[in-house]
Amino acid sequence: MARHDPHSYADFSQGRIQHIDFQLEVDFEQRQLRGTCGYTLEHPVAGPFDLDTRGLQIHAVRAEAGAVEFSIGDEDSILGHRLRLDLRGSSGFEIAYTAPPEARALQWLTPAQTAGGRHPFLFTQCQPINARSIFPCQDSPSVRFTFDASLRVPGPLTAVMSAAPVGSIASDGHRVFRFRMPQAIPSYLFALAVGEISSQDLGPRSRVYAEPPVLESAAWEFGQTEAMLAEAEKLYGPYPWERYDMIVMPPSFPYGGMENARLTFLTPTMIVGDRSLVNLLAHELAHSWTGNLVTNATWEDFWLNEGWTTYAERRILAAIEGEDSAMLRAATARHIMYRAIDYFGWDSDPTRLKFSQKGIDPESVVSLVPYEKGYSFLVRLERAVGREAFHAFTRKYIAEHRFQTITTEAFIELLRRDLPEAARQVDIDTWLYQPGFPPDAPAFESPLIDAVSAKLFDYQEGRLPTRSEVAAWATAQTYLFLQHIPRQMPIDHCRWLEQTFALARTRVPMFLTQFYEIAIRSGYREVLPRAEELVSTVGRMFIIGPVFQAMAQAEWTRPMARPLLEKVRARHHPVTVSQMEGILAKEGL
Ligand code: BES
Ligand code: ZN
Repeated sequence: MARHDPHSYADFSQGRIQHIDFQLEVDFEQRQLRGTCGYTLEHPVAGPFDLDTRGLQIHAVRAEAGAVEFSIGDEDSILGHRLRLDLRGSSGFEIAYTAPPEARALQWLTPAQTAGGRHPFLFTQCQPINARSIFPCQDSPSVRFTFDASLRVPGPLTAVMSAAPVGSIASDGHRVFRFRMPQAIPSYLFALAVGEISSQDLGPRSRVYAEPPVLESAAWEFGQTEAMLAEAEKLYGPYPWERYDMIVMPPSFPYGGMENARLTFLTPTMIVGDRSLVNLLAHELAHSWTGNLVTNATWEDFWLNEGWTTYAERRILAAIEGEDSAMLRAATARHIMYRAIDYFGWDSDPTRLKFSQKGIDPESVVSLVPYEKGYSFLVRLERAVGREAFHAFTRKYIAEHRFQTITTEAFIELLRRDLPEAARQVDIDTWLYQPGFPPDAPAFESPLIDAVSAKLFDYQEGRLPTRSEVAAWATAQTYLFLQHIPRQMPIDHCRWLEQTFALARTRVPMFLTQFYEIAIRSGYREVLPRAEELVSTVGRMFIIGPVFQAMAQAEWTRPMARPLLEKVRARHHPVTVSQMEGILAKEGL
C-alpha cells in the first residue's frame, strides 16, 4: 500500500475521486447528518479503493453493477477508520451512511446558544482532518473534487454551503436547498451551516450571511470587502472563485475565521464596531489564492498555506491602511508566536516549519508558528532580493500551481530555480527545518510601534500613561501595549489598566484576553466572574486559551479550572474542549 499523506488512508495509486453528489438530511432532533454520497472517479477502478471515515455508520455501498463489498478497519485515534471498497471496474459508486451527533466536524447548537435564541444551528469545521467524520472521502488536501449537493432541513431554517446556491423548494414542513460547486476543492474546504440565517449584499460579488440580530452590524464591519478583493486581485490576479461570501458564526466557533471555498466562516468576536479587526477578513480572503488555489500537499506543509496567506494578508492591509499599520499588526502577531514557542519549548518539533507528523494529530499542533515564522521567512526572502523580484516570484508560484498542491520540498526547488539570489543569501534549511526562531528574522519598523514602545518604557520607569495619552491609539497599538506589560502587577495597576483602556466596556476580545490573564496572575479578584463568562461563551481558543491557562496556573484559581471546563464542556465545540483539556493536562489538573 502506498500512503501519500500521513493523515489519510487514501492511496492515490488506486485512483482519485473527481466529483461527489451529496443528498443529505439534516436532522436536528436526532442530531444526525445522513443520506447518500454518489462518487465519480477519475478513472474506473478494479480492486481495493480506500476512503477515510471516522465514526460513520455505513449502511450500503452500491455501484452500477450492484452491491459493493466493503470492510471497515480498526479505529486509529488520529486517522479514524479506513473504509475499503472492493470495486470491480467501476467509475463510480454510492454510499448510504449516517454521521453521529458527536461527529468531530459538527457542532449542533441549541437555540439558547445562538444570537436569535429561537432556532437551533449547525455548522461544520473540516480543516484539518475532520471532513471524514461527515462523509467518506480521500481526506487529504491533495485530492480535489467538484460537487453537487441537496440538503433537506427543517422548514424555518436556511442552509448555506461552500458552493453556489441553486435554489430551494419546500416539501412537507421541510425545505430542500440545492448547491453546485464547479471549482474543485480539497475536502477540508467543504462546509455547510444551517440555522436562522439572513443575508445582505455587500457588492456585486459578495454578500454577508448572519443570524438576523447580527446582520446589520456584520454588514457594516465587513464594508471593505470589495476594496480588499480589488487590492488582492491587483496583487495576485483575478479572483478565481466567482463569489466571495461570508457568514458570521455563533460565538462558539472555535477559530477566528475559516476560508471555506466561496464562503468564509467568521467569529462574531471580530465585530467590534470600528472595523479594527478586519485583518482577519483580509487573511481569509487571501486564502482564496494562497491555500485554496495553491494548496499545501499535506498538513506537514501547513506553513505554505498560512505563511503565504499571512504575507498576502499584510500586503492587502498595507494597500488599504498603510505599511505602518500592517507592520504594527505583524508585531502583535509575532509576540503571540513567541508565546507559542515558549509554550511548546524552543527545541520542540511544533516550532519547526516542517517536521514529521506521523502519529501526531495536526489539530494539536496548530499555533501561530507556521503563520508568523512562515511569514518572517517570506519577508526575509523578500528583503534579500527586493519587493519587485519577490513579487514576480510570487505571481509565478501562484500561476504555475493553481488548483494544485505543493510540498515544502517542491517550494524549495522553485526558490532555487526562480529566486537563486534569495536561496543563496538565506539559510533555507534553518528556516524550514530547525526549531526555534532564527536570529536573522526581519525586524518590523513603524512609528505606530515606536509610540507604544515609548509608553512601555515609561511604565517600566514607573510612569503610568494617562487615558488621554492613549485615547487616539489604534486597536493594534493598545493590543501591543497590553501584550508587553508584565503579566503580574500590583492590584492598583490592574485598576489603572482597566480605566485607562476602558476595559470594562471594550468590545475588542483580545484586550480582554490580555487583561484577564494579567488580572488572574496578579490576584485582581473582581475580574473572575467576567473572565469565566468569556471562557464560557467564546469558543475561539486564541481568545480564551491564555485566560484559561492563567486560571490553571495561578494558585488561587487553579482549583476552579477543571470545574469550569466541566461546566462549559457541553456548550463548547469539540476542538475547544480538547484544547482546554490539553491546558489542564499540562498543568497536571
Ligand atoms: N485556516 C485557518 C483556520 C484553521 C487552521 C482551522 C488550522 C483549522 C486548522 C484560518 O485561515 C486562520 O488562519 N484563522 C486565524 C485567523 C488569522 C488572522 C490568524 C484564526 O482563526 O485565528
Ligand atoms: Zn489562515
